[in-house]
Amino acid sequence: MRLRVYFLLLLEVSLHTAVSSTIKCGRPSLPSGVERKVLQRLYEPGEDAVLSCAPGYLHAGGSRVIVCSNTGEWSTITFKCAPKSCPPPDDIAHGKAEFSDIVFTSTINYTCDEGYILNGMNTSSCMHVGKWSHPPPVCESVRCGLPPIPNYSQIIFDKKPVGNIFEFGFGGRYECGPHLVMFGNKRAFCQANGRWTEPPECRPVFCPAPTEIPNGFITLAVKRMHSYKERVKYGCNVNYVMDGLSEVECEKTGQWSAKPVCRAPCTVNIERGRILHNAQKKWIEDFEPNRVLHSEYVAVYCLNEEKECGYPVASQCVDGSLKIPECFKEPNVTNYQMWSGSLPSEIDMC
Ligand SMILES: *[C@@H]1O[C@H](CO)[C@@H](O)[C@H](O)[C@H]1NC(C)=O
Ligand SMILES: *[C@@H]1O[C@H](CO)[C@@H](O)[C@H](O)[C@H]1NC(C)=O
Ligand SMILES: *[C@@H]1O[C@H](CO)[C@@H](O)[C@H](O)[C@H]1NC(C)=O
Ligand SMILES: *[C@@H]1O[C@H](CO)[C@@H](O)[C@H](O)[C@H]1NC(C)=O
Repeated sequence: MRLRVYFLLLLEVSLHTAVSSTIKCGRPSLPSGVERKVLQRLYEPGEDAVLSCAPGYLHAGGSRVIVCSNTGEWSTITFKCAPKSCPPPDDIAHGKAEFSDIVFTSTINYTCDEGYILNGMNTSSCMHVGKWSHPPPVCESVRCGLPPIPNYSQIIFDKKPVGNIFEFGFGGRYECGPHLVMFGNKRAFCQANGRWTEPPECRPVFCPAPTEIPNGFITLAVKRMHSYKERVKYGCNVNYVMDGLSEVECEKTGQWSAKPVCRAPCTVNIERGRILHNAQKKWIEDFEPNRVLHSEYVAVYCLNEEKECGYPVASQCVDGSLKIPECFKEPNVTNYQMWSGSLPSEIDMC
């Protein structure tokens, strides 16, 4: 009997503890940056927990205290913590700072522009104290040594160099000695890799002795080889007209520039008739010498049968060839000598 009472008592005690253990609060789940002051596993109903901000965070409103309810649930958490801000980073010269935020744990990535070398740390992070972990780096210009200067050439810098220091982008142009031809880059500059651009080569170039031209001559008859840029002058025989430039130059390719052409004069191939040349009306037999220079114009007269009037038709001398317009009708001897007054050139003009 006593044993039984004891047993019941034991049962009651164990029942009581089992029930009370189900109504405890576990660890509250906390928003980021929020932590508990005391790290306790279980809380009794009615017990409270005090919240605080983690390092790097600042209190941003809400109640510090949460309470474990009779049902084993925590009261609503209103406590808020915001990450601390670091000061906005300054721009860096010849580089850039990339970041998406400037709060605790944010990072800045620094990069330098092409031709600049980063001196310092390429990243910095915002620490819990609200300061950046590293000072911004410095972007230093790439430097080149002395530029290569090929044989028989010189370099003319865009601006005076300071000592023997040539920074990225510093440049100049090459010049070859007299009568030498440049093959390659005319300009030089200090590149991002710290090396100068490939220099050119200066070489002599010769052109063969200049050749004669038909109906013309070389004014200074020196039949020898000429070097680059040397010039020779041509002339045309009397009454020949030059087409092109009188001077030719020895070019980089070792060839002369295009030689001029001497264009031939024309004769007016009619036996009887009147022509208009240089604003003068002349009978063909009075046109002495019968010669029209290349590119000049000559007009003959045609008849407008309907209106019975005459009109001039011009024709151009092209390198020895002058075409008489088809409307021109050469008169027979009788008409020309006896009736010249009725020729198209003599009657009323249309
Ligand atoms: C910084 O660089 C790291 C590694 O290259 C990259 O994962 C990160 O996205 C970069 N951050 C920014 C803000 O560009
Ligand atoms: C920073 O520099 C290190 C080497 O010094 C490199 O491995 C890393 O990619 C760089 N990070 C960025 C964001 O440029
Ligand atoms: C430059 O001139 C020197 C001496 O005259 C010669 O030894 C060298 O081969 C030349 N270099 C070139 C690229 O022509
Ligand atoms: C000359 O031409 C005219 C017509 O225009 C003609 O009547 C005459 O017979 C010609 N004379 C000669 C010699 O051909």
